[in-house]
Amino acid sequence: MTFALSTLAGELATIESDAVGRLSSAGSPEEVRAISAEAVGKRSPLAALNQKLGGLAAEERKVAGAQIQAARSRIMDAAAGVLESLSALERARRDATEHLDLTEVLATASRGSINLVNQTRDRLEDTFVGMGFAVAEGPEVETDWHNFGALNFPPGHPARDNFDTLYLDYGEPGTTLLRTHTSPVQVRLMQSQPPPIYAVMPGRCYRKDTPDARHIPGFSQIEGLVIDRGITFGDLAGTIDTFTHAYFGPKIGSRLRPAYFPFTEPSAEFEITCTICEGKGCRTCSGTGWIELGGCGMVHPAVFEACGIDPELWSGFAFGFGIDRLAQMRHEIADMRVLLDNDLRFITQF
Ligand code: DAH
Repeated sequence: MTFALSTLAGELATIESDAVGRLSSAGSPEEVRAISAEAVGKRSPLAALNQKLGGLAAEERKVAGAQIQAARSRIMDAAAGVLESLSALERARRDATEHLDLTEVLATASRGSINLVNQTRDRLEDTFVGMGFAVAEGPEVETDWHNFGALNFPPGHPARDNFDTLYLDYGEPGTTLLRTHTSPVQVRLMQSQPPPIYAVMPGRCYRKDTPDARHIPGFSQIEGLVIDRGITFGDLAGTIDTFTHAYFGPKIGSRLRPAYFPFTEPSAEFEITCTICEGKGCRTCSGTGWIELGGCGMVHPAVFEACGIDPELWSGFAFGFGIDRLAQMRHEIADMRVLLDNDLRFITQF
């Protein structure tokens, strides 16, 4: 066997370009491994050339051996490169078929969340619906008669002064206003449907208050009204207590204390176990273990009469409380004004 150093470089170049060409069109890692075994393995033309080295003089053998070795490593490098790009392709294919679209998740997240007050309102509605109540709504712009007159506030009665009313420049002066509480929805309900009535009425109310930690001029209340035959004060107390447990959990109870409202007789304020200290006494409840939540009482006969319901046949109770207050208590929010601020650091917590 002859072996000429002069032709070796040309032979090696042919072998190399043949191998690299086949490698570059390989479609799988198996193919790459087969091609490189053929090109550099025991039966490869490179191995055959290596065997011929023995016929060369020592000096030439060294040069030729180095050239063969260099060609061999270039082919191996090419194989490694092809393997690398095949596995990148495979990764891309898997990403495309088994993908989790993170932009989809982001799009949902940036749609935001429901405002804390509305979340609280939704939960309250759910709780009362679970107790058998219907949900009703009334207008935010009200007549003086619905907001006060039908609720047994006589004109000029001092109780009206407790409601810093915002009157609208519409109709006779003092006849149209932004409702100061949700109680006028009781009147609308009684006028629009015969008893029995079991309903809660959530919604926004307005008072001429200067905003501070515990007051905002636009706030939300939820009103309750039950009218049926033989409803007693015991039913009122039981309903408030059942609601309190259902909404706050078994550790929070309720109690009633005498109060005055023109549209209920007797009237009461209802208090719940302080949610912060669970009744032990803390700063929030001024050490009493109780927090006032809202007002309630037996529907006054004058209200029944204003709404065309016979107080001899029907009796009932009503209650009302602030939704923002409730959210404030439940989440220990020091200052109510953050509910209006649209500060993302606050909003995104809920
Ligand atoms: N409307 C009253 C207020 O805003 C709260 C209230 C008290 C509602 C007694 C009632 C009730 O239904 O019976 O201060």
